[in-house]
Amino acid sequence: MTDLSVALGPVLMRSPLVAASGTVGSVVDFAGVGALEAYGAAVAKSVSGTPWPGNPDPRLASTGAGMLNAIGIQNPGVATWVDDVGLLLPGLSVPVWGSVVGKTVGEFVEVAGKLAATAIEAIEINLSCPNLAGEAIWALDAEATGAVVRAVRSAVDKPIGAKLSPNAQDIVAIARAALKGGADWLVLTNTISGAAIDIETRRPLLSRTTGGYSGPPLKPIALRCVIEVRSAFPEAQIVGCGGVRSGSDVVEYLLAGATAVAIGTAHFERPRIGRTIMRQVRAYCERNGVDRVSDLIGAVRPW
Ligand SMILES: Cc1cc2nc3c(=O)[nH]c(=O)nc-3n(C[C@H](O)[C@H](O)[C@H](O)COP(=O)(O)O)c2cc1C
Repeated sequence: MTDLSVALGPVLMRSPLVAASGTVGSVVDFAGVGALEAYGAAVAKSVSGTPWPGNPDPRLASTGAGMLNAIGIQNPGVATWVDDVGLLLPGLSVPVWGSVVGKTVGEFVEVAGKLAATAIEAIEINLSCPNLAGEAIWALDAEATGAVVRAVRSAVDKPIGAKLSPNAQDIVAIARAALKGGADWLVLTNTISGAAIDIETRRPLLSRTTGGYSGPPLKPIALRCVIEVRSAFPEAQIVGCGGVRSGSDVVEYLLAGATAVAIGTAHFERPRIGRTIMRQVRAYCERNGVDRVSDLIGAVRPW
């Protein structure tokens, strides 16, 4: 029987699979439809200091190859989140990570502090949402990334991951800032900016015109980020994220150097896909004489 556990920095996970933020609701919502037992952790939708209304419809679109979204981090604000979701976390069959978003360093710190007082296992700092009106993506700037991570690090004791953007011109520079700021791991990556137009109506498919592009076409881009960061920082702990929909995709991210691998968009088509993916990972390991899934981490063979 393959040992599926992995150690992501200070966090011991029973499985390398992570349910990606924004694709499993508050996790509480997902418990009735998803296969939570397949995951080592599930990340709740990002939450801010005050309620954010999100963007107007249409804010989700299928492009034929991948998906566009411009939800705009609609969320009830951290106080309501703590009351409505935080109290239910101990009843879930999966460790939950909170996800923090903010417009200022102070907002990140405030939200992280409130989330840390609940039963969440860890905190993901979302520095990479590409569809907030008039807001820059924090993770395009090394200094801004470092400032947020440092401030959250000094405010909370729980493990923290920094979620970065594939839009960054130099992902290694941003990763360096996040690691130096005290992130226990990096999540590579969030969605990449994209757009699509309906040629009959001549309108963009999203009300905000551009949004975050996710799904299978994102995989080679996010995988490249994992490879570049792992090569620059061999000890860095990484959660690979982008376009995963099979066990082979998970193995690919592990070989590239990720310790855990997140599933996002695939949940919209098949909420219970985590179970199938875990079965496929186990079958790969058995076929290839791999006793521990952790033996695959970074085991790519360079040319
Ligand atoms: C509808 C939707 C909402 C999302 N909301 C969030 C969010 O609130 N916070 C976050 O960090 N990432 C969010 N993401 C990004 C995903 O967590 C993930 O990083 C991205 O979709 C790439 O993975 P995938 O190709 O497997 O979907 C969202 C993605 C989608 C499709």
